Amino acid sequence: MNHAGMLARVKKRKRPVEAGAQDQVEVKFKEVTLYLVERKMGSSRRNFLTSLARSKGFRVEDVLSDDITHVVAEDNQAEVLWAWLMGHGLRDVSRLAVLDISWFTDSMREGRPVRVETRHRIQVREPVVSVSVYCSPPTAVANVSQYACQRRTTTENHNKIFTDVMEELAESSEFNESKGPCLAFRQAASVLKSLPSAVQCLEAIQGLPCLGEHTKAVMEEILTFGRSFKVEELRCDERYQALKLFTSVFGVGPKTAEKWYRRGLRSLKEILTEPSIQLNRMQRAGFLYYSDISKAVSKAEAEALGCIIEETVHWIAPDAILALTGGFRRGKEYGHDVDFLLTMPEMGKEEGLLLHVIDRLRDQGILLYCEYQGSTFDVSKLPSCRFEDMDHFQKCFLILRLEQGQVEGERGQQRDPGDSRGWRAVRVDLVAPPVDRYAFALLGWTGSRQFGRDLRAFAQKERQMLLDNHALYDKTKQLFLPVTTEEDIFAHLGLEYVEPWQRNA
Ligand code: CTP
Ligand code: MN
Ligand code: MN
Repeated sequence: MNHAGMLARVKKRKRPVEAGAQDQVEVKFKEVTLYLVERKMGSSRRNFLTSLARSKGFRVEDVLSDDITHVVAEDNQAEVLWAWLMGHGLRDVSRLAVLDISWFTDSMREGRPVRVETRHRIQVREPVVSVSVYCSPPTAVANVSQYACQRRTTTENHNKIFTDVMEELAESSEFNESKGPCLAFRQAASVLKSLPSAVQCLEAIQGLPCLGEHTKAVMEEILTFGRSFKVEELRCDERYQALKLFTSVFGVGPKTAEKWYRRGLRSLKEILTEPSIQLNRMQRAGFLYYSDISKAVSKAEAEALGCIIEETVHWIAPDAILALTGGFRRGKEYGHDVDFLLTMPEMGKEEGLLLHVIDRLRDQGILLYCEYQGSTFDVSKLPSCRFEDMDHFQKCFLILRLEQGQVEGERGQQRDPGDSRGWRAVRVDLVAPPVDRYAFALLGWTGSRQFGRDLRAFAQKERQMLLDNHALYDKTKQLFLPVTTEEDIFAHLGLEYVEPWQRNA
C-alpha cells in the first residue's frame, strides 16, 4: 500500500487494535476468550492490557463474536454496556461473562483466570429469574386456545412485564403499517394475559399458541435481563415518540400523526403554533380538553356518568333500555372513555333517541363536544365479512363535563388545592341499535377489541359463520340465526359462554 492509501485507511476507519498481537505467547487457558471493551477504557490502555494478557497466556480477541466467553469493561454503566452488547446480534448473550476490570486485574495478578464472583459481574440488576434455574414446572398449556373467545381473561394480568412490551411493539408496528407483526404482538400479549400465573422461564411457554420466534426472543430478553432492550431503544426513537404523542390526541389517527411528523413537527405546542395546520372540529376539541381526556377515567367517575346518562335517557324515554359496555362492563378499574348502549323495547322507537339525549345533555350545560353519526344500518347489506368494519348504528362520540361533586368518594373533597376547578372533561360513547340487534351490539361494544376479533375469526374459520355487530349468518345453512341475548350467540357458535369480566383479552 502506498503512503496516501495508508493515510486514507487510517482516516476512514478507527485504527484496529494491532499492537499486542506480537505479544501472544502460547494460549494457556483455552476455555477463556477475552474481549476488552474500548469504550471509556480508551484505545491505548486497551492495547496495553491486551498485550499484558496475551503475554500471560490469555487469548484476547479484537472483535466481539460468538467465540468470546468473557467481556471486560472499565467504568461502563451497566445499562449502556448491555444495550451495546445486545446490539451485536450475538447468538446467546446470556452465556457471556460480562465483567468489571477488577476481574481482569485479579486474573493478571494471579496469572490465571480467577473464578468469576458476583462482585465481578456487571449487571443491569438482579435478573428476574435465571433462564433455566428457577423454572417452575411448565404450566398446563396444552389447553390454551389460539382464539381469545375460548380463553377466560380477567383484568388480573400476571404477565404485565411482557404484555406492556408486546403492546408497545404492536403499536410501533402499527405506525410502520406492518399489519402482520402488529397482529402477532397483539395476539401474543392476549395469550399471555390469559395465563393463570407469571411466566418464569421459556420452557413454561412451550406449546402456547400465537407466540412466534420474534415474541419468544423478546420474552427471553425480559426473562434474562428484566427488560427489553429493543423496546428501550424504541422508546428513545424520535418518530415513535412523536407519533405516540400525536395519536394521543382525540381525533388524531396514525395517518395525520405521520403527516405532522414528516413536516418536522415534534411537540403538541408546535402543532398548535404552526399556522399552516388546519385542525378539524374533533381535533380542536381533542387539544382543548387534552389534559383531562388523556387522564384515565376511574370506575367511580364512570359510575357517576352512568347516573347522569340514565337520568337523561329515562327523562326522555322512561322505558328505554340502557347498558354500560366497553372496558367498564369488563370490570376494568380505569378506561380511556365510558361506553353506553341504549335502545327502545319497541322496534323503530330508537330512531331520534340519541339526538334527544344529546339535546338534553346540552340543556344541562354538560355537553362540551358532540360528534353524531346517524344510522346507516341496512338489513339488506347483511352479512358483512369485513372484520374491522365499523358498525352502522346511530352513535355519538361525546366529551362531557363531570362535576367532581357527583363522583363517589370525591364529594366535597378538594384533592389538589391548586386544582380548584371542580370538574373534569370525560370522553363518552353512546350507541343506539334497534332492539333486535341489541345482543350483537352489546357483544361487539363490550370488547375487548381482541376478543371481538377472535370471535369473528372463530365464527368464520371454525363454523363457517359470519359475525359482526349486527348479525350472525350461517353460510352452510344460508340463514341468519335468531338471537336475543349474548348467550344465544355463544350457543350458536358452539362456544361456552364467557362472562364480560372474562373478556379482557
Ligand atoms: N367498538 C366497536 N365499534 C366501534 C368502536 C368500538 O365495536 N366503532 C368496540 C371495540 O371493539 C371495543 C369496544 O367497542 O371492544 C369499546 O371500545 P373502546 O372504548 O375503544 O375500548 P375499551 O375496551 O372500552 O377500552 P377503554 O377502557 O380504554 O375505553
Ligand atoms: Mn371504552
Ligand atoms: Mn369507546
